[in-house]
Amino acid sequence: MAVTRSDADILSESNREKREEIVELLKRAYWMEIETVMSYIANSTNPDGVRAQEIVEALEQDIQEELGHAQQFARRIKELYGVVPGSLGFTPEQHSLQPPEQQTDIVHVIKGVIEAEREGIRFYNEVIEAADQVDWVTQDMVVDILRDEQAHLRLFEGFLREYQAEGRA
Ligand SMILES: [Fe+2]
Ligand SMILES: [Fe+2]
Repeated sequence: MAVTRSDADILSESNREKREEIVELLKRAYWMEIETVMSYIANSTNPDGVRAQEIVEALEQDIQEELGHAQQFARRIKELYGVVPGSLGFTPEQHSLQPPEQQTDIVHVIKGVIEAEREGIRFYNEVIEAADQVDWVTQDMVVDILRDEQAHLRLFEGFLREYQAEGRA
């Protein structure tokens, strides 16, 4: 006999519990993206100095991508019969992305981005696991988003390496 698998779709009544679990994960992911948008707006605007320009431009680009992620998570919440939360449900968590003391301290920003992207990657792997075998569409969507976050992480790890090679980090 073939491997037994749920014959029900994620939208069917028999999968209600699993669906609600996934919606909660998607809400958390949505907030993470929204907070990232806030943090990247601040951190792409605050820095001073010539050296900061590459970082500023990279973050400006990422803002649009992170906003797109937030919209994807919101749409998926809706498709799974959930409700996209209102702003009063928001709790900030990104300590690493608060502005530095000195606005020329670009290493602080780079390290903050790396930490935030790592946290995103860790959590999205969790969502991919939770959706396995039961919600392929969420899984597929989050795999794509995970790839974007890995690219962001890789880019900023490269920036940090450059500063480390120069003895500035
Ligand atoms: Fe994102
Ligand atoms: Fe990202």
